[in-house]
Amino acid sequence: MSDQKTAILSYDGKEYELPVIKGSEGEIGIDVTQLRAQSGLITFDPGYANTGSCTSNITFVDGENGILRYRGYPIEELAEHGNFIETAWLLIFGELPKKEDLTRFSALLTAEELIHEDLRHHFEGFPTHKNQPMAILSAVINALGSYHPDLYDIKNKSEFFLSVGKIISKVRTIAAFSYRKSIGRCFVYPDPDLSYCHNFLHMMFSIPYKQYDPPKEAVNALSLIFQLHADHEQNCSTSTVRMVGSTQANIFASVSSGICALWGRLHGGANAAVIEMLDHINNGDFTIDEYIEKVKKKECRLMGFGHRIYKSFDPRAKILKKATHDLLNQGFSDHQLEIAMKLEERALSDDYFIERKLYPNVDFYSGIILRALGIPVAMFPVMFAIGRMPGWIAHWYEDYTNTNTRINRPRQIYTGETTRHYVPIDFRK
Ligand code: CMC
Repeated sequence: MSDQKTAILSYDGKEYELPVIKGSEGEIGIDVTQLRAQSGLITFDPGYANTGSCTSNITFVDGENGILRYRGYPIEELAEHGNFIETAWLLIFGELPKKEDLTRFSALLTAEELIHEDLRHHFEGFPTHKNQPMAILSAVINALGSYHPDLYDIKNKSEFFLSVGKIISKVRTIAAFSYRKSIGRCFVYPDPDLSYCHNFLHMMFSIPYKQYDPPKEAVNALSLIFQLHADHEQNCSTSTVRMVGSTQANIFASVSSGICALWGRLHGGANAAVIEMLDHINNGDFTIDEYIEKVKKKECRLMGFGHRIYKSFDPRAKILKKATHDLLNQGFSDHQLEIAMKLEERALSDDYFIERKLYPNVDFYSGIILRALGIPVAMFPVMFAIGRMPGWIAHWYEDYTNTNTRINRPRQIYTGETTRHYVPIDFRK
């Protein structure tokens, strides 16, 4: 007898037996792939809060217990001992890199850090002083693909490795250029002698004949932020990447779609929205109590709070809260930390937030760190996008190499007009 568990669905006098699948951490799901064929029924789940869209080996989140692991490794251990590039390798290739892997990867990232001069000219078409680096980043990453049509169809591991190097390295150059373009400053080219995060800060803030030399605490804080954003299983932008990739669209187009999905205030735009909210309170537009009351009346949301999956502390927020304190203790300044802490304390003791299990998420403190590093608010979602890139690539490749991947195509329950017949224009009421 098989030990495969099943669930029974009873509808209209008939019973349907549906297989139950189980993940390596004991998560269970009802496999409904044959449901419509057997019964005519589909499942209905707007926002997909109760829908598993795939199986995946990459990231495990247990939202009830505040657990996040990349490829099995707890985020706390990776944050304490690793860095962004090591984490990127882990997510994309499945194992922690050996020394020779890191040497090879670093050499590739350095070799790929420049963009083609023709691609650089694309920046000229974007308006200056409109401060839209996310629009520039998504467009230029997609355009980057047109310089490498040979990589649209990845045929082997070395082509995949090359694509990874191009995207992970160039996203940083393109992001920094998008900022320089948005403020009307000359581009600063990457310096091959600098580490990944240091190089990014150099391209952001150096000026001709005066190299920006960030303190190592700033470089480490940036690496931590990227690392904590590197993956989060089937979130909106990652699902978008998998959705686009499921059509067999190329890796550049797929990750570019992830940048667009990330843009909104409920996802990667939340870090900038947190700062706007703290600014309102700091400027005296509202007191903390007044703001909380507005939230409870549903006139606005407490940005950086709440999460689809976490119903206890987001472990990334815990790490970032401590990192924020550490950074500000090392002489970096930001007047908003105190407001943020009071706001958090006030919310966590209020029944509205307690009943709904709303806790600070990764975006609540990340903005304070980014601002202390001198990153302008319009660039905050871009920083999220650089960090999330390894996760998007890992998920795209997981689908790309899975022979069972089908085009993603949900169904709907149609609620519009039933059949009616065409009316010539003179007879329309
Ligand atoms: N402030 C006030 N109320 C909230 C908030 C919030 N931040 N988040 C959820 N709620 C309430 C919501 O009004 C609803 O209340 P009720 O049951 O009375 O209608 C209840 O909590 C459930 O909310 P929901 O909108 O059904 O939850 P969701 O899982 O669909 O949304 C979320 C998740 C992250 C979009 C939402 O919590 C939110 O809007 N947070 C603020 C934006 C934010 O910080 N986003 C970053 C998320 S973490 C980084 C990332 O992965 O993108």
